[in-house]
Amino acid sequence: MLKFVFITLFGLIAVEAGVVTDLDACNNDTPLPDSVDVSGCTSQPCPLIKGSDVQLILNFTAPYELDGFNVTVRASFSIISINYNLPDPVGCNNLINTRCPLEKSEPGSYRLIMPVNSAYPTISNLRLRFSLIDPEAKSFACFVIRTSVMSA
Ligand SMILES: *[C@@H]1O[C@H](CO)[C@@H](O)[C@H](O)[C@H]1NC(C)=O
Ligand SMILES: *[C@@H]1O[C@H](CO)[C@@H](O)[C@H](O)[C@H]1NC(C)=O
Repeated sequence: MLKFVFITLFGLIAVEAGVVTDLDACNNDTPLPDSVDVSGCTSQPCPLIKGSDVQLILNFTAPYELDGFNVTVRASFSIISINYNLPDPVGCNNLINTRCPLEKSEPGSYRLIMPVNSAYPTISNLRLRFSLIDPEAKSFACFVIRTSVMSA
């Protein structure tokens, strides 16, 4: 009984927090972030509702001292792949728990708001690849998330 209650509560909390537990890695060399919280999504494909803003919170651990970092997003659909230009790609501007520079092993919590334009086409299997890039242009964390662009 207690076990059942615990699981039920835990399930509810997980849904509210929106932590995506089944992220895809970009490749074997670049680690995933510690966690990725996507508003309204706990498992892929994550819904991107046209005309709404999707919030992502990426928690990562600085692998070495970071004076700064940038975030890039690449959107792929079928054989088409394009850069999605974030309104503000400068990572330091969007840290919510600390400031740059980050020390080695310091936890960083990065918030990203992605407006989903209502003019976007309805696509059920859009892959978004997020990469955190250090000042030497090397990616230190990367993940792919499968999404589905849909009408409200
Ligand atoms: C991410 O980090 C923030 C700030 O430290 C924390 O409040 C939040 O709970 C973390 N999220 C997850 C899913 O660990
Ligand atoms: C981030 O991108 C800006 C604009 O492209 C560039 O000037 C800056 O050097 C980059 N910073 C890092 C840490 O890569």
